[in-house]
Amino acid sequence: MSAENAGRDVLNSRRIQWFPGHMARTLRVMEKEVRGIDCVLQLLDARIPASSLNPEIRRITRDKPHLYLLNKADLADAAITKKWLAYFKAQGAGCLAIDARQKGGAAAVRGPILRELTALTAKRAARGMAGAAVRVMVVGIPNVGKSTFINSFAGSARAKAEDRPGVTRGKQWISVEGFDLLDMPGVLWKKFDSLQTASHLAFIGSIRDDILDIEELACGLLESVRALYPKQLLERYKLDETALVLPPYDLLQAVGRKRGMLVSGGEVDTERAARTVVGEFRASKWGRISLERPPQNT
Ligand code: G4P
Repeated sequence: MSAENAGRDVLNSRRIQWFPGHMARTLRVMEKEVRGIDCVLQLLDARIPASSLNPEIRRITRDKPHLYLLNKADLADAAITKKWLAYFKAQGAGCLAIDARQKGGAAAVRGPILRELTALTAKRAARGMAGAAVRVMVVGIPNVGKSTFINSFAGSARAKAEDRPGVTRGKQWISVEGFDLLDMPGVLWKKFDSLQTASHLAFIGSIRDDILDIEELACGLLESVRALYPKQLLERYKLDETALVLPPYDLLQAVGRKRGMLVSGGEVDTERAARTVVGEFRASKWGRISLERPPQNT
């Protein structure tokens, strides 16, 4: 078995833990509710747009117009985000890059949502529904910033924002200026088809950390970022070029050593180093990073 398959199967064999019953229930509710909605507003993490495209959400919502919001764009590489915007638009979907935490960030998407719905509104008007609130289902993976977006869009704290995946539980309708937003809890899916997808979701904090091996997570993260943004990594940890070819665990040790994270006997406290690495990446201390590029020639 290849290392890739082994890693993926280890993760998939733990699926019960990251795909708890409430996520299965959410998908069932989504399947039922999708019939009555006008548009899907799907939040993706701008650093990993492909991995945050939940295939179950895609299946359930495929017949509805989509507006993708590349959220946390402030953490992603602006040049790559531009390419993703072009990619989704070429697929016929609406797409905007936002920072849901920024005041007015979510308000800026009101216009585009309306434009996206122009065709639908015409149909609704023909059916005598003009003036009825547009029903928008808001979906995304855990921790993508959905509560933050809805709070900002709705102009008051209606959904609880917390940096813990799966905190928003149960659907809720929120009415705001001509829109009825159906806020669905963040969901993952049962089986990841690649180790990369699973890893990327874990890096950004979409899979609960307590079911993951923090050192494995940090090593994977260091390896991925080193391949794409080597300079940023070297600068952050004041490493020299020899770090570019170190095996990932040795790289983690080098980071820990640089930070003086030693235990008795002079060994590196790799668990502490791993927590630092993951925490600093998530806090954008390494600068703006995009882990995924849109497919070529699409
Ligand atoms: P969820 O409902 O999709 O699970 O996500 P939620 O809104 O709870 O957001 C998860 C974390 O991501 C929160 O961090 C939130 O502040 C942050 N966040 C949301 N949107 C953005 C964005 O566009 N850019 C950045 N940089 N961060 C964003 P947290 O650690 O709980 O922070 P805070 O709530 O203490 O600020």
